[in-house]
Amino acid sequence: KEVTIIGVPMDFGQTRRGVDMGPSAIRYAGLTDRLEGLGYSIDDEGDLNIKIVNESKETEITTNLKNLKTVAEANDKLGQKVDQVISSNRFPLVLGGDHSIAIGTLAGVSKHYENLGVIWYDAHGDLNTGETSPSGNIHGMSLAVSLGLGHPALTNIGGYSPKVKPENVVIIGARDLDPGEKQLIKEQGIKVYTMHEIDRLGMTTVMSETINYLKERTDGVHLSLDLDGLDPNDAPGVGTPVAGGISYRESHLAMEMLSEANIITSAEFVETNPVLDKYNKTAIAAVALISSLFGDTLL
Ligand code: ARG
Ligand code: MN
Ligand code: MN
Ligand code: MN
Repeated sequence: KEVTIIGVPMDFGQTRRGVDMGPSAIRYAGLTDRLEGLGYSIDDEGDLNIKIVNESKETEITTNLKNLKTVAEANDKLGQKVDQVISSNRFPLVLGGDHSIAIGTLAGVSKHYENLGVIWYDAHGDLNTGETSPSGNIHGMSLAVSLGLGHPALTNIGGYSPKVKPENVVIIGARDLDPGEKQLIKEQGIKVYTMHEIDRLGMTTVMSETINYLKERTDGVHLSLDLDGLDPNDAPGVGTPVAGGISYRESHLAMEMLSEANIITSAEFVETNPVLDKYNKTAIAAVALISSLFGDTLL
């Protein structure tokens, strides 16, 4: 029942400013009070310091990855932080920041497990490499990097690669996959519940299948929740919204089922951009979902 909050004001994994204010927006929406109300002891470590590193001419010529050094250095720091938190037997709750920070979170988490499971709750696969990326944005590459695919400056963070095995990953909510990502999903045999399966089976079946699948084969499960997995009506403050997403209610159900199953050992909530959100709706949704994940039963 001991949680450490780590804010990561990262906005260099994509090109829309403001997502660095995600951690503040989520704190402002009352995260600590909600979790304390559920009986948790909270240690908020504040925000990681993101240092801007000058990209050398050489990296600019040899790769199309934007802000590679800045993103790599911040993720290295984040990995060390998350590693320390788990070593002191606390639950790491990471607040983004754009989704490139999953590289660091997973670098810190995965050394504590033989077979780490990952739930990637997202409209996107984030399975691009420098070769397949249409944008050069590293937030669209973080899952591929964690599988050991991509630029060595990213895959080697923490000193080992890969962080996760493809058969231990479940993607939920996908509806915008680039051609290279689709190919990778097939090649690597990654389990994906697209919006089609969510509509067809219902969230209850999707989550019980996911839970059973991961329970069987993993010794810990990281939840990486990109707020753009939700429908833009419910979570408008994201940089890459995609219509036809998971509803607020379905997302609550998903978090409640994860809480009941008691399988989640670390979590991150990313891509909240309050600048794109008049009423802080996205951060408020994030806090509500986090409290369901942490066992709020409404009763
Ligand atoms: N697939 C697109 C790209 O590679 C969009 C990625 C969006 N990722 C995210 N974490 N929001 O640029
Ligand atoms: Mn996304
Ligand atoms: Mn994402
Ligand atoms: Mn709830």
